[in-house]
Amino acid sequence: MKKEISQEKLRLVLSKEEILRKVKELAEKIDKDFNEEPLILIGTLKGAFIFLADLVRNLKNPNIQIDFIRVKSYGMSDTSSERIEITKEIEIPLEGKNVILVEDIVDTGLTLKYLYDYIKNFNPKSFKICALIDKKERRKVEVLIDYVGFEIEKGFLVGYGLDFAEKFRHLPDIKEVIKDE
Ligand code: IMP
Ligand code: MG
Repeated sequence: MKKEISQEKLRLVLSKEEILRKVKELAEKIDKDFNEEPLILIGTLKGAFIFLADLVRNLKNPNIQIDFIRVKSYGMSDTSSERIEITKEIEIPLEGKNVILVEDIVDTGLTLKYLYDYIKNFNPKSFKICALIDKKERRKVEVLIDYVGFEIEKGFLVGYGLDFAEKFRHLPDIKEVIKDE
């Protein structure tokens, strides 16, 4: 059984104002790169649902389509990307399209590497990665992230879509879970 964590054991890392400023910056960069070209944004469920929602509402591009993919990974200590499973497929055809994968947080990089190869197989015209948080400490595979919100050294983060055992996704700020010693 996972231990319950109270709200008091969370430390503020990124305020909702800071996050929104960054999301606007990212949207500006994407608009600059694609102008009004048709663009498909694919959010990874569940973690990226709030980030994607804020990002698309800050894009000026009128030719946006949105889809989601959901992946399940088994065991955080597992190093094999074969243990990542897609539990909800992308529904919009991606061949010949401009595609951006929108991730909440990149940790080991295994999920992103898996999704990168998976989406590449659909032969999009262009394919870029956007991640709100690039967490460096546990990186196992190198992945190129085209649009990065924040670089964070370490810590387990919750809020703004990110969860700890399905809790805290709804929090507007991003907080670090403080472990009991
Ligand atoms: P990776 O395959 O290790 O890069 O794991 C990426 C996924 O693990 C993310 O999309 C999140 O769902 C989850 N994850 C990694 N670090 C955190 C964190 O600090 N808080 C919440 N979820 C995390
Ligand atoms: Mg995720």
